[in-house]
Amino acid sequence: MKNITPKQLAVRIAFAVAASIAALVMVWQFIPFQNSVLKIISVFIVSFAASYYFFLLALEKFIYRKIKLIYKTIHNLKLRKNEKTNLIDLDKDILNEVRQDVLEWDKKNKEEIERLKDMEDYRRQFVGNVAHELKTPIFSIQGYLLTLLEGGLEDPEINRKFLEKAEKSVERMIHLIQDLDEITQIEAGKITMNIKPINIVDLAKDAVQQLEHYAKKKKIKLIIDEKEINKPIWVEGDYDRLMQVFINLIDNSLNYGKEGGTTKIKFYDMDENILVEISDNGIGIEKEHLPHIFERFYRTDKSRARKSGGTGLGLAIVKHIIEAHNQTINVRSSPDVGTTFSFTLKKAKKH
Ligand SMILES: Nc1ncnc2c1ncn2[C@@H]1O[C@H](COP(=O)(O)OP(=O)(O)O)[C@@H](O)[C@H]1O
Ligand SMILES: [Mg+2]
Repeated sequence: MKNITPKQLAVRIAFAVAASIAALVMVWQFIPFQNSVLKIISVFIVSFAASYYFFLLALEKFIYRKIKLIYKTIHNLKLRKNEKTNLIDLDKDILNEVRQDVLEWDKKNKEEIERLKDMEDYRRQFVGNVAHELKTPIFSIQGYLLTLLEGGLEDPEINRKFLEKAEKSVERMIHLIQDLDEITQIEAGKITMNIKPINIVDLAKDAVQQLEHYAKKKKIKLIIDEKEINKPIWVEGDYDRLMQVFINLIDNSLNYGKEGGTTKIKFYDMDENILVEISDNGIGIEKEHLPHIFERFYRTDKSRARKSGGTGLGLAIVKHIIEAHNQTINVRSSPDVGTTFSFTLKKAKKH
């Protein structure tokens, strides 16, 4: 019965039923009974029984085989409970059940396709952004090198200066690649947090120390809330990751701060959590940009941000890290007044 068509099936059933009746007629030859009522009754019983038996058998096998094929296609042979046995239950509205299953499968497939399309869009956008970000430093490196090749190399006035500038651009590319690597790994879920009780005041001091030099250059004061500076505050966190958060936020406050301004780091006790605030009195952020600044590559002002050499990935990384601690980060800002980033961290119970 392999790959039989409905027509072939009908021929076989008809043959089987006809053969049963013919057999009955043959039996009559040997038992000569003349009662025609009995004859009619026996024909009725034999044809009914034979038809019922052969039809049922054929349908079971035939439908089962076809349905199995459908399931094979949609589930990779993940058969439903009642299809585990070799025959199907013909008391049930089997074709309707299959139809329901196929509809369900169709819906799932459509959802999956939507998801893949979204991911594809995101990937395309991401690659586009990366290409765009790499273009600027690469073209400037090319410019400096060409100038040097076309005679600049012999000119002591510019040769060193141009090489230094090219080096700056290389540095910027490295920074971008590092941030890209970081964000890709975080988003792929490849980075595990090493959560331990840490003293967040010490961490803040460390971060401030690392950026002190840059702050001096920018003529911005960097201060940690005096009340807190000498007493430890213990929170649950990944030291290195939270260091990245502080460095990124302080770095932003310096990049978008004003000469003579101040960046303050404060801590607030909130029962279960510690609230950390990093605020500046810099250029601020327009209201329309606020909902977007944590997005990858988002900048409020392309030209200005470009000059200050950011990658536009800093805040996206910061947000990922805070969320990996199961905490949230918020921003408040007014143009020309300043910006405050605040995030929470869980207090450490023991240390
Ligand atoms: N402290 C701040 N003051 C004003 N604007 C800020 C501040 N921090 C971030 N921004 C805005 O948010 C954008 C995204 O920040 P970020 O992700 O760190 O990227 P970038 O590499 O440009 O610093 C910045 O380009 C800037 O426009
Ligand atoms: Mg930044």
